[in-house]
Amino acid sequence: MEVGLKPPGMTVTIVGSQLGDEGKGGVVDLYGDEVDVVARYQGGDNAGHTVVFGEEEYKLSLVPSGAIRGKVGVLGNGCVVNPETLFAEIDGLRERGLDPDVRVAERAHVILPYHRVLDGIEETAKEDSDLDAGTTGRGIGPTYEDKIGRRGIRIGDLLDPDSLRTKLEYVVPQKRALAEDVFGATTDEAFDIGSLYEQYRRYGERLAEEEMTVNAGGFLTERIEAGENVMFEGAQGTSIDIDHGDYPYVTSSNPTAGYAATGTGVGPTVVGRGEVIGIVKAYLTRVGTGELPTELGSVEGQTPEDGGRPEMADLATEIRDEGGEYGTVTGRPRRVGWLDVPMIRHAARVSGFTGLAINHIDVLAGMDEVEVGHSYDLDGEEILTMPPTSKQWARCEVNYRRFDGWPEADWEAVAAEGYDAIPENARTYLEYISDELDTPIYAVGVGPGREQTVIVETPFA
Ligand code: GDP
Ligand code: IMO
Ligand code: MG
Repeated sequence: MEVGLKPPGMTVTIVGSQLGDEGKGGVVDLYGDEVDVVARYQGGDNAGHTVVFGEEEYKLSLVPSGAIRGKVGVLGNGCVVNPETLFAEIDGLRERGLDPDVRVAERAHVILPYHRVLDGIEETAKEDSDLDAGTTGRGIGPTYEDKIGRRGIRIGDLLDPDSLRTKLEYVVPQKRALAEDVFGATTDEAFDIGSLYEQYRRYGERLAEEEMTVNAGGFLTERIEAGENVMFEGAQGTSIDIDHGDYPYVTSSNPTAGYAATGTGVGPTVVGRGEVIGIVKAYLTRVGTGELPTELGSVEGQTPEDGGRPEMADLATEIRDEGGEYGTVTGRPRRVGWLDVPMIRHAARVSGFTGLAINHIDVLAGMDEVEVGHSYDLDGEEILTMPPTSKQWARCEVNYRRFDGWPEADWEAVAAEGYDAIPENARTYLEYISDELDTPIYAVGVGPGREQTVIVETPFA
């Protein structure tokens, strides 16, 4: 190496190992000091990532969580971007005294108002067949459909009014016909070419004025080559991945680590040189429909009829209240279950975790006993990972293991002191998870705040 030449920077990928809301935003913030750029690689404003720091709490749906530490944020080509939400979020952060520097890939797709309307219409239509996923209603699925159908509108099109108009003129009549003729809905200005053109051209102007658009792959690769560290911030979680999750009760993108490359344009060999940290919640939550074999109690409208262990409804309520388990985006109560180890074994393999951050250990404190779903019995055979279809998953009988509970503690003091200060029974639980996943623990969440996390390893060391 030439003298004076900086070695390339490192990358770290943050992935949800369960069903979303594992505390990814907090972990991005935790390690954010050593990062120069934080890039999202998939999803859109269906995400709700929380960063708690001192007295402040931030809920972010599009702006990458590094913004709280003043780091550059990138929305990669794999994201779907609603400019209205993006600008509202940036403006809101500015009002709170931050100055977010957010870049958006010209290749990222744009969520338009008709996508949100169609999201709602199709969810309702699916209800009778129990095919509705309980989406966030943000238009995520319909936007990714248009991307794959090669009729999507990209951020780059907003900067080019002629291209924007041509594309709207092609696509909007189709969307109107779909809403009206297929679903029997009445349509409004969300399907009006003229007003959409005016509104989205103006978003393009603001993107250009604030110099926000980039060729994400080139931008990020140059920064890595110049020695800067990049964090890839996954949204959602492995079991709602379109390929590796509980299809069709999933989101429409790939939260798993492979997409960190495809969704940003940074080569997989570069991403693969870096660490991949799986974020694990010490129990399980799910917003939306679909199976949940280790579910406690039930939540109306989201739980399959035969799901849950109704006798444990009180425990579910206790965990939900203690952990503040209400959706960040929609406010819906999250369904609660015991940790499902087959689910996280599957996640560890799909994304190749090199480290784990295990959160919410404090929420389980004070219980006599904590259970985990260790394996499943499926059609007379014991299996250790999630089966490939939702029908098979529904047939799984859970084999539980019990752990002695641990007491409440002064969690901030525990975080300051380090791993050995965590109550012994909680450490037994943590080490069981680490052993089953054959992956070391990097961090343990003992509260929502930056100061309430036990750091064991830093991925940039
Ligand atoms: P994300 O979508 O994965 O970023 O997670 P969310 O922000 O949607 O949900 C996680 C919630 O749990 C947030 O309210 C966090 O502040 C909070 N949280 C994160 N880690 C911990 C933890 O270790 N203990 C507790 N009690 N709360 C946590
Ligand atoms: P973060 O990044 C939890 C769920 C929805 C629904 C399904 C499809 O905060 O972890 P969508 O609107 O994406 O088409 O909905 O996916 N879902 C999430 N659940 N956390 C999320 O994001 C989620 N994003 C989507 O509830 O079941
Ligand atoms: Mg969330």
